Amino acid sequence: MERPHGSLPFDAARLADEFGTPCWLYRRSVIERRIAEVSCFDAVRFAQKACSNLAVLAVAKKAGAVVDAVSAGEVVRALRVGFDPKAPVPGVVYTADILDDAALDLIGRHGVPVNVGSADMLEQLAERGIRVPITVRVNPGFGHGHSSKVNTGGELSKHGVWHEQLPAVVARGRELGFDMCGLHMHIGSGSDFEHLSQVCAAMERAAADFGPGLRTISAGGGLPVSYRKGAEATPRIDVAAYYGLWDASRKRIESLVGHPVSLEVEPGRYLVAESGYLVTSIRAVKKQGKNVFYLLDAGFTDLVRPSFYGAYHHITVHGRDGSDLPGSQPVIVAGPLCESGDVFTQEEGGFVTTRDLPPAKTGDLLVLHDAGAYGAAMSSNYNSRPLAAEVLEDGGVFKEIRRRQTLEEIFRLERIPEL
Ligand code: LLP
Repeated sequence: MERPHGSLPFDAARLADEFGTPCWLYRRSVIERRIAEVSCFDAVRFAQKACSNLAVLAVAKKAGAVVDAVSAGEVVRALRVGFDPKAPVPGVVYTADILDDAALDLIGRHGVPVNVGSADMLEQLAERGIRVPITVRVNPGFGHGHSSKVNTGGELSKHGVWHEQLPAVVARGRELGFDMCGLHMHIGSGSDFEHLSQVCAAMERAAADFGPGLRTISAGGGLPVSYRKGAEATPRIDVAAYYGLWDASRKRIESLVGHPVSLEVEPGRYLVAESGYLVTSIRAVKKQGKNVFYLLDAGFTDLVRPSFYGAYHHITVHGRDGSDLPGSQPVIVAGPLCESGDVFTQEEGGFVTTRDLPPAKTGDLLVLHDAGAYGAAMSSNYNSRPLAAEVLEDGGVFKEIRRRQTLEEIFRLERIPEL
């Protein structure tokens, strides 16, 4: 019999007992539900950068998704989980604006298709004698995102091939002997429906410029989730309407090229953000002038989004037994790091704000919600803090999918030379 666990859909007290805090929790059923929701697309390509734990990739694979990879490391993750780069719908595609030696080696050895973001990538593949299928990421000249740091289109963005240069890049690829087979656009993360749908028209223009051989188009990622709850929540993106716009574009492109064209989507956050929680302990409660602070055992070394983007995460506070706590007071929630910016309640620009939370004492649990995307994946060892454990909740069972890092593992690569 499970203990009651307040408003949380899992037993945070048991999680803290078994794995300690801070600790990441992902709910498998939520990831599967989100993948199913976008499965109207011919391929759901999970942007694994959002949450690249091998177990999460395995969950995505079982649910029918394929993945993208932005580095040699992510290619190796995909291969390890069994994604086949040579499958008719490639299990993994390399998407980046540069290639390094490690990536070139892997791409050549395993035949990983490449989504090029610069003309130089084609030359570097060709120099090594690599001839994998190529799609081109196009910068359509505009972009949008939840923060200026995640806008990936327009003249100030380093991403993709500038739309006016597309015909030249495609021609060069053909001249070098590549199978030039697809187009890809990703304008930014956490975009709204209106901006996302503007990409369809840009894709149709790009398809006209691409010429023969176009077999696949990708709508990119960027699908938003609502980080705010209750009255402040933004409505869920209408996936059916989003797909409908893309499907109509795909059909117009098919009549242009005269054969079927497959349609991919490439979400990161949409698939995993809401599955994930960062469970922390309150280690100090103090008053600075009129402000109450809760200081946690997790900081921006764990979840950097509030410090980096001013991103909002819903917060709940629970007793050590996991129960919900009553009452409310304005609180600043901060971490343990020797950095004033180590604050979870802040807005873009670093403006510290308060959150109305129940009065709490040391030892109580504080949970940051919707932390499955760009949470653990962006963690660091700053202040020599170990990476937290990651746990998958699978049918009510907690499965450790990454144990907490040890201090020895942090120091292992360092050497003191003869001094
Ligand atoms: N495709 C490409 C080529 C991308 O660069 C990205 C994200 C995605 C797909 C997935 O975007 P999503 O669906 O997750 O919005 N760290 C930031 C987000 C940076 C995203 C980088 N690229 C955050 O925490 O909000």
